[in-house]
Amino acid sequence: MAVRRLAPEAVQPKAFSFTPETEAWTKELVAKYPQGRQASAVIPLLWRVQTDCGGWLPQKAIEAVSERLEMPYIRVYEVATFYTMFNLEPVGKFYVQMCGTTPCMLRGSNEIRKVLEERIGAQQTVSEDGLFSWLEVECLGACCNAPMVQINDDYYEDLTPENFNKLLDDLAAGKKVNIGSQAGRKSSEPQDDVKTLTDPALYDGSVVGAWRKRFEEEAAQRAAEAKAKAEKEKLEKEAEKAEKEAAVAPKKGHPDAGRATERPVADAPAQQKAVGEEVVDLEAEDKDIAEKLARLSRDASPEEKANAVGSRPKALKKPRKDKADDLKKISGIGPANEEKLHNLGIYHYDQIAQWGRPEIRWVGQFLSFAGRIDREDWVGQAKTLAAGERES
Ligand code: FES
Repeated sequence: MAVRRLAPEAVQPKAFSFTPETEAWTKELVAKYPQGRQASAVIPLLWRVQTDCGGWLPQKAIEAVSERLEMPYIRVYEVATFYTMFNLEPVGKFYVQMCGTTPCMLRGSNEIRKVLEERIGAQQTVSEDGLFSWLEVECLGACCNAPMVQINDDYYEDLTPENFNKLLDDLAAGKKVNIGSQAGRKSSEPQDDVKTLTDPALYDGSVVGAWRKRFEEEAAQRAAEAKAKAEKEKLEKEAEKAEKEAAVAPKKGHPDAGRATERPVADAPAQQKAVGEEVVDLEAEDKDIAEKLARLSRDASPEEKANAVGSRPKALKKPRKDKADDLKKISGIGPANEEKLHNLGIYHYDQIAQWGRPEIRWVGQFLSFAGRIDREDWVGQAKTLAAGERES
């Protein structure tokens, strides 16, 4: 990248004035911007003036632009010296901007620079015949066709020392030249044979068709799974509801059918209930349980809560003689609760029949249905069923 400063005084013109055409054009340009924002026109105006001055910006022209746009001279000077599109020294008829950035350098821009140095001389000097001058610039955005140069307004790409020399010869001779790739390729199409995406199936629709089929199958599978899940949840809810309903009414033909599951004791205080053979002050017990639970941390586990309010019933590792009693015969115990009791090591009527208040409280709390064991009198039912088992 060359140092960007104004041309020496010796080449600077003594005066500058806008052409009538540029005057009119400038008036129209400035009118496009809101009042007080005429500085926004600085780049197009500098560009126009550069064209008028034969491809470069004399100091007097920069000063004229700053006056016309009512901008401090330094602000216009900053713009003119920042962008390489503005030339600060006289240029040849064909002004060559050579890209020296990495992609072009890796593809041979050093060879192109040698050609320029040999034919024209150092950067920013005009050839003796006045036809050429050159400048090394940063990436011009045509890296895919590197190395490349911009000559005046056009790009010339895929350069080699040979085709670049010929290009300069043709320009000097006033011949018509091809803009763009000097290797004959269109835009940035592959230079040789296509090496990627060569499978014909990509273009006959078969690959896309296979993908579409796969996506459709996957979508159908997801929909079927969602439907099955919804149906399963519905069935589970129905089963749970049926279990709850069955728990409210004793089963027909059951030994305890017709017996009230919760019986007030005639001469006991209202809050006392007969639970099995005991008379229990359930209200007081509920209060006691609530107090004990309140002392636990909020994230206590179900087991910690159950331990706080009662005693874990004695468990068996497996059913005696490998045959569990049918706990579902106890009104209020359905398949789900039977499974939960099995998980606690409870398989037989006589195990439940032995539960006292601590065990009832523990199981009620652990299985999150406090009070239900009493209301449904599991213990009483279990005693009857256990007695029946013994007799048979
Ligand atoms: S690196 Fe040369 S055009 Fe981008």
